[in-house]
Amino acid sequence: MRIRKKKWVEPFLKLDHPTYIKEPETLINQWQSTFNKGFLHLEIGAGKGDYWLNMARQHPQALWVALEKEETVGAMAIRKAYAFDVDNAFFIIDDASRITEFFGEHEVDIIHLNFSDPWPKKSHWRRRLSSESYIDDYRKILKPDGKIIMKTDNRQLFEYSLVNFNQQRFTLEEVYLDFRDAYYEKINKLDAITEYEQRFIDLEQPIYRGIWRKHA
Ligand SMILES: C[S@@+](CC[C@H](N)C(=O)[O-])C[C@H]1O[C@@H](n2cnc3c(N)ncnc32)[C@H](O)[C@@H]1O
Repeated sequence: MRIRKKKWVEPFLKLDHPTYIKEPETLINQWQSTFNKGFLHLEIGAGKGDYWLNMARQHPQALWVALEKEETVGAMAIRKAYAFDVDNAFFIIDDASRITEFFGEHEVDIIHLNFSDPWPKKSHWRRRLSSESYIDDYRKILKPDGKIIMKTDNRQLFEYSLVNFNQQRFTLEEVYLDFRDAYYEKINKLDAITEYEQRFIDLEQPIYRGIWRKHA
């Protein structure tokens, strides 16, 4: 999500905010002991934070950390968090290529990838958040039975990810080819809608979703 940098962003990010983690590397291997919560969820490419905040509200006993590389988008999410009473939601503004500096081995329970940029050009495959080197890092920070949950509107990206997760020793446990279909409505109420997802729901486009579990 590219948004022109807004004037308020730089001074805003210089201030302290309850959800903003400025130096995530200082929390490596200490997320759960510092915040004293249950499962550690990490959303990568969190955008303006709707999913992160709504899931944190729905699951107050868990720890919800979001990571987003674009400063303006991240600042919007951190600002949005002021409207909610949450003590279990934290935001990092940085690039996913640095996650092993922020999370230790076997520290994360569940990674969420929501509507990741598809980067359709072959020459850009390394930028996809489900390319080999990212999955390598996910393996390192995930617990031995940790999970990856991915939602996307993009069929090509979904197929690419299915193959890659399988090759990198993740077992597909659940798959949905039309996640917001009325049939699943009851289950899906447990899963918050992201900003991008709402656009595709409005366009009546199918949402693909997969849940993979790490295996040895
Ligand atoms: C298409 S948007 C989706 C945003 C949100 N997850 C949603 O579903 O509405 C993808 C987001 O991932 C972020 N992103 C892409 N590559 C990233 C990376 N390497 N590290 C962190 N964030 C990244 C982009 O800046 C953008 O905000």
